[in-house]
Amino acid sequence: MSAVQATLSRPAPKVDEKVTIDLANRAETVLPKPNERNILITSALPYVNNVPHLGNIIGCVLSADVYARFCRARGYNTIYICGTDEYGTATETKALTDGVTCQELCDKYHAIHKQTYEWFSCDFDKFGRTPTPWHTKITQAIYKEIEKELTVERTLTQLYCEHHKSFLADRFVEGTCPKCSYPDARGDQCDNCGTLLEPTELINPKCKVDGTTPVLKETKHIFLDLGKEQSKLEAWVDKSSVEGKWSANTINITKSWLKEGLKERCITRDLKWGVPVPKDGFREKVFYVWFEACIGYPSITASYTEQWEKWWKNPDEVELYQFMGKDNVPFHTVVFPSTLLGQTEKWTLLKHVSTTEYLQYESGKFSKSRGVGVFGNHVQEIGVPVAVWRYYLLSNRPETSDSQFTWANFVACNNNELLANLGNFVNRIVKFINANYGGVIPEYEVDGAPEAALVKDVNALLGQYVEALEGVKLRQGLKLAMDISARGNLYMQDNRIDNKLFANERKRCDAVVAAAANLVYLLGSLIYPYMPTTAEAIFRQLNLPQRRITDTWTASDIRPGHVIGKAEYLFTIIKPEKADEWRAKYGGKQDGTAEPEQSKTSKRKAAKAKAAAQGLSEAPEGCERTPAIVELERQIKEAGEAVRNLKAEKAAAELVKEAVETLTKYKMELQTQVDLVLHK
Ligand code: MF3
Ligand code: ZN
Repeated sequence: MSAVQATLSRPAPKVDEKVTIDLANRAETVLPKPNERNILITSALPYVNNVPHLGNIIGCVLSADVYARFCRARGYNTIYICGTDEYGTATETKALTDGVTCQELCDKYHAIHKQTYEWFSCDFDKFGRTPTPWHTKITQAIYKEIEKELTVERTLTQLYCEHHKSFLADRFVEGTCPKCSYPDARGDQCDNCGTLLEPTELINPKCKVDGTTPVLKETKHIFLDLGKEQSKLEAWVDKSSVEGKWSANTINITKSWLKEGLKERCITRDLKWGVPVPKDGFREKVFYVWFEACIGYPSITASYTEQWEKWWKNPDEVELYQFMGKDNVPFHTVVFPSTLLGQTEKWTLLKHVSTTEYLQYESGKFSKSRGVGVFGNHVQEIGVPVAVWRYYLLSNRPETSDSQFTWANFVACNNNELLANLGNFVNRIVKFINANYGGVIPEYEVDGAPEAALVKDVNALLGQYVEALEGVKLRQGLKLAMDISARGNLYMQDNRIDNKLFANERKRCDAVVAAAANLVYLLGSLIYPYMPTTAEAIFRQLNLPQRRITDTWTASDIRPGHVIGKAEYLFTIIKPEKADEWRAKYGGKQDGTAEPEQSKTSKRKAAKAKAAAQGLSEAPEGCERTPAIVELERQIKEAGEAVRNLKAEKAAAELVKEAVETLTKYKMELQTQVDLVLHK
């Protein structure tokens, strides 16, 4: 049946129009409006050269989607911008190993990313890509404005392959590790002993492309002198971090950069795949991906609307909310804002930054090469509806600490939370109205004591829900929505909604039915940001238009005489055995057999993943010791001692396990901090 027929065969909804909102017919181009809340939302632009896994998906793209949907359902004037980050060494390397051009590689993976996020119901206003004429134009213009004041030229000595006439990125060089003599060490790291290396340290270095011995050659680069922006940036951070309620983690990372003092950063590279540097003597070079990638936000907005400056050069009327994994923080709170603060025009700078920690897979790491973890393509073949994936990921969003994906929890979430709580509540009431009332909402009064208590409790929870989401606490918001659903179940149970009540106490029954139906309607609006397909199914069953997210609820939005739709199951049970089946198929600790046959490269990658998973005990030689690193080294030493003491005392296994976990956590955090300093 077409949508038109469906509306024709059903009477028009009877509902308080103040609570409805039409999100299906959004303007083709949304622009900021005066005297409205104008919300600009971005998700970190995912690197194009891989298939995203669940950790990547929850890390920013899905989280930003929830927020954009929340804002739209509140009636804020909102756009959500994302796209693929395509330039840089990583793309050139991967294209080379895959034997395709950079363009071909990017086209292929851009399509995979786009399709994956579409499957996850991510509702972008624009999902673009960085290589566009707009991007080149805006990047070069931003550079030109700071060229005089904020940049300096420096000469560096780097490895150069005379055979294929190119400077060699660290990972294009291979040789023998100076520490452990492993013959296949890479220019940036030895995968055997885990030591981080400079390519010039390798013994007997070779070009990875053609085996030629590289030579040292001088090359000029442009550096961004961030030090000159330090005080301006500090003032902005102090103000913005308070106004925008930055998380403790974000503030710590940012402040540790500031405390250490901002340094010069190289913003050019000897590559072809990138934005050309518009300066004589540098025309063969491109901008470093971390200088140019964040400019993808405005440039992708420009491919959405030529009036992109209304969003990006409008700090007084636009609020910018940015979502990212925590490893991206310094680029968004230090490097990019410094660049923008150096412009003559006033740019829209971020207000709120929402960062995530890492999602682990069955207590390890996601690894493509080892075939461990759930990737975008798997999710689509498993046959579990998208709403369940979104719910699971969002209710386990690594918001304040790392979290874990486990198949057992995934199945439990579906069966014990979605099905038992939300699914049950909605299904019970819709069926009851259809069976006993012919689908028609009766005349009702919600002035009984149980209804008063329900309205009071729900409003308290609703207030917390709105507050949580205004503060971008997505996980808490979802929990509160589920608490409201649980309150609804309790109400139905307390008021014994059944055929006896219908036969003997019709007026009571009418009130209970109406209050519950109104609560289902409210719930549809509250879960919409998290599970849009489920919300649609709820609105369809109620035969009502989308409901906006209001500050309060009165249990009287739906008018008597309104005819609801047919009952549908929102969720179906997943057999617990499925968890074992999926774990075996997609790898995971409890099943050693999933480890595939390993080639030499995948073995190397595995060794690297292992080294990374165990973290570092101390920062490698040559790595600057930031305050964060010094503190972590101290914590690691302390935690290591604690583990040794507990073992010596023969303490309970639980205690030892806990101490080991703490130690590992610090070690992994140190790895992250070191990677940041070495800007990998
Ligand atoms: N591509 C980076 C990553 O996946 C994120 C870049 S965010 C950007 O970690 F804004 F700089 F593009
Ligand atoms: Zn070469």
